Amino acid sequence: MDFSEAKEEVRKAADIVEIIGQHVQLKKRGQNHVGLCPFHSERSPSFTVNQDKQIYHCFGCGRGGDVFTFWMEYHNLTFPQSLKDLAERYNIDLPRYGDVAAEREKTELKEQLFKINDLAADYFHTTLVKNADGRPGRDYFSRRHISRETISAFRLGYAVNKWDGLVNYLRSKNISLGRGGKAGLLVPKKDGDYYDRFRGRIIFPIFDLNRRVIGFGGRILDDSLPKYINTPETPLYHKGDSLYGLDSAFKDIRERGLAIIVEGYMDMLVLRQQGISNVVATLGTALTSNQVRRLKGYTREVAVLFDPDDAGREAALKSFPLFLNGGISAKVLVLPQGEDPDSFVNRYGSDEFKELLRGETPIFDFYLDQALAHMDAGIDGQIKVLNEVLPIFMDIEQGAIKSLYVHRFSEKTGINEAVVWEELRRREDKRAESRDTSQIKNRLLSGQDPRKYGSDLQFLNLLVYYPETIDTFRDQEWELIISDPEIIKIIRVFMEKRPPGGDLDRIEGFLDSPVAKEQLRPLLMSEPMYTDESVSQAVNEFVQKIASVKRSQSMRKASAEGDIETLNRLIKARHDLDLPSKEN
Ligand code: GTP
Ligand code: MN
Repeated sequence: MDFSEAKEEVRKAADIVEIIGQHVQLKKRGQNHVGLCPFHSERSPSFTVNQDKQIYHCFGCGRGGDVFTFWMEYHNLTFPQSLKDLAERYNIDLPRYGDVAAEREKTELKEQLFKINDLAADYFHTTLVKNADGRPGRDYFSRRHISRETISAFRLGYAVNKWDGLVNYLRSKNISLGRGGKAGLLVPKKDGDYYDRFRGRIIFPIFDLNRRVIGFGGRILDDSLPKYINTPETPLYHKGDSLYGLDSAFKDIRERGLAIIVEGYMDMLVLRQQGISNVVATLGTALTSNQVRRLKGYTREVAVLFDPDDAGREAALKSFPLFLNGGISAKVLVLPQGEDPDSFVNRYGSDEFKELLRGETPIFDFYLDQALAHMDAGIDGQIKVLNEVLPIFMDIEQGAIKSLYVHRFSEKTGINEAVVWEELRRREDKRAESRDTSQIKNRLLSGQDPRKYGSDLQFLNLLVYYPETIDTFRDQEWELIISDPEIIKIIRVFMEKRPPGGDLDRIEGFLDSPVAKEQLRPLLMSEPMYTDESVSQAVNEFVQKIASVKRSQSMRKASAEGDIETLNRLIKARHDLDLPSKEN
């Protein structure tokens, strides 16, 4: 089997709805499945998956492709790696592939880094559970009530307090230290040597959704600083992209329809240990839109823990538009002052925590309550809250929803609603002014006539669903009635490559132009516009349309050349044909 055969094998075996459905909540709608796009933030679903054609397309952001494209984009992998993943999943043997050199290098580097991370995770874990010098780690975890089961389930570890613990281990495994540096595990010294980044810390490996180790967090055992360190940016680890524990939580999150978001490694672990399985942690950064996007594939409801203090109030406010624009409803769980989920559960037990989950404080109300409780009296206090809240209002995409919140805000704070709106408009104008308007301009200038484009779509739709009509048009100058050159390309490929009854999803492979590819997908996904009964009439109409465009062209030519005789003949022909409805 060669490379492209293997690819086709995988394509046949993989079901795009199943693969995407694991990460995006899909609902059947007509012949498609739809869901919220994982690649841009949106509130109503424009992300569309078609099972027949095994393709997906987002009508909002234009991204789309086949099962391989999805895997590559969603998991941030190269094509060869995606092929490999999917092939493994469906038990398909891959040939050794020769691919573009750069691509292969990238893949190899990532593979090596995964391998190094895996070795390191083993090393830290073994040290923790088996070795004499892992004792400080064991003691620490037991002080924090972390069980052996949890330690093994999350592959927790301990990094000895030495400069060359991992250095020596990787050496013994013949791993180049430079690669250890690329993995973020080792730090280069001036003399070209390396030392361990994680020393004297308990270790939390961070997994991707396929449970491969992409990075690590490490906590110091005492009060020294920094308390936590994480893997720096590497080809595998991007700060703010992943959620700790998502790999082991996403099924439960989906089942329960709720994700609990906590801040810390220990919080996540302790809750899990108590049987609360739908928890993930953000790892010290403020929640990012990428993280929200990840989550919304599994649920539309989250519960977030914020501290009832200034920092918690600000964090809640910042995350508010992310959830709102992402179409996720977020409630806030408030713990007593000074407690985090870990300390709370250890003090009061997990039942108390579950009790908290019943509480319903929408995130914006939480913010308002906090803001009001801490707001200084008088105008100064009002100005301060207004300044805090306006940038957030500006980030709310939907007008109607924005109004609701503005109203609620002014009601609760006593700040005149008109004043809020005025200030908001002023700031929005300013922002719009500074925004680059060239995009909009371009769109206006290129100004495609939507009616013309509509007929392009209709024609292709006819060919797609009634391929037997292709033959009728093959010898006609159908290009005359298609206004978009990219669609002409698509139709050409379609006519040449598609024997009636053949496979649609191959067409994309025959198109060189990315623009054409992008346009093909929505076209292939549109519902049939014709029925068995209306097909022949549609064919006739297109044939006539071609003829009529040809006539007008000839007429224009004839009149330009002063060929009165031809012109008269053409006018008469048109008159005969177009009766009785001559207009339009
Ligand atoms: P414990 O003290 O072990 O219970 O940790 P915690 O999770 O309660 O710590 P804290 O509430 O201070 O911080 C929450 C999360 O923020 C941590 O789990 C880390 O992911 C992150 N974090 C805390 N301190 C640091 C730090 O000094 N550096 C970095 N990079 N992250 C930190
Ligand atoms: Mn804590």
